[in-house]
Amino acid sequence: MVEKKMLFTPGPVMTSEALKAVLLQPDIPHRQPVFEQYVRRIRASLLLLSGADEGYTAVVVSGSGTAANETALSSIVRRGEEVLLLSNGEFGERLRGILEVYGYPLHVLDFGWAQPYDLEGVRRALAEHAGIGWVCMVYHETSTGMRNALDGVVRAVAEAGRRLFVDAVSAIGGEPLNVGRDRIDVCTGVPNKAVAGLPGVSFVIARRSSVPPLGADLPRRNVYLNLQKHIEWADRAEQTPNTPSVQMFVALDAALQELQAETLDGRMRRHRECALIVRQGLERLGLRLLLAPDFRSNTVTAAFLPPAVRVEAFIEAMEARGYVLYPGKGPLLEQNVFQVATMGWIQPEDCRSLLGVIETTLREMGGLTGGGKGS
Ligand SMILES: Cc1ncc(COP(=O)(O)O)c(C=O)c1O
Repeated sequence: MVEKKMLFTPGPVMTSEALKAVLLQPDIPHRQPVFEQYVRRIRASLLLLSGADEGYTAVVVSGSGTAANETALSSIVRRGEEVLLLSNGEFGERLRGILEVYGYPLHVLDFGWAQPYDLEGVRRALAEHAGIGWVCMVYHETSTGMRNALDGVVRAVAEAGRRLFVDAVSAIGGEPLNVGRDRIDVCTGVPNKAVAGLPGVSFVIARRSSVPPLGADLPRRNVYLNLQKHIEWADRAEQTPNTPSVQMFVALDAALQELQAETLDGRMRRHRECALIVRQGLERLGLRLLLAPDFRSNTVTAAFLPPAVRVEAFIEAMEARGYVLYPGKGPLLEQNVFQVATMGWIQPEDCRSLLGVIETTLREMGGLTGGGKGS
């Protein structure tokens, strides 16, 4: 048996014992009603969770969040249509990677890591380039913990009459999302972050009228990760085009049921409470947080370590005590930033324990000199 560690990571996250127990049941064949019932219920739950109306559909893709992003982005951009990408961190750059591989005419507004969107700049780009059909953004930029200005982008895109793709991979279950009210055309998510499920599947929620049919205007650009094919199989028979990751569908269903029982508001409240405990505790220890309060998500906190403690050594020391944290990505690593993700099956008391361990670890490593108290 693997030793239990406390995961304060932005995915995979900790899950409930009940969710893990759900997997201990007889094997399930996928071309049978027993599996189709799971698919039906998952799709309905996803539509409910995202605030979708009857104009939307949801499909599950076997593969991690990148699979959902690639399924969507490979399948919605018409031939010759231009794409505007808003990027301010690692996962904006990952979207760029997909968009470049598919060869779309691409405009990128790169605001810089941890810098907020310039909405005037977005409006200007849309006004200057009539050929832009899709705007792509990351709602919660997990690499910095920044909640990007979804409302502002929604307004700018609607005013300009374009379509919006939102990577909501680490936002769903953590941040407010209402695709129907906001007329978000396509968004993606995963179970293994704020939904508190297991990794291995991901999902796409799409406004049907925004997914063009395949044809001369929209060539089929891939085989496995094709959105039209996933929608066709789901609509026809609550099925998937290929052998799905059956057990992960079962776990996704269980995670969505747990989320519905807690309610989305309740889940977001718990995430916010946990993040607040961590933020206040780190500041009490004298650590500086990366983002100003207005930009902080409900789930990820990025903070600078004291110069005396290198982030890699700190992460290692924390792990030895049973707590898994991630170092900052990209330029944040050089700036000695670490991340605490309070998403998934995490309770306020877990956050208080974490702060105690951070304090002891920093003291031992010579990073705390005063008498600050974290918890
Ligand atoms: C916002 C966001 N988008 C995309 C991804 C990529 O997901 P995956 O690593 O599951 O493929 C992640 C992963 O952390 C993410 O946080």
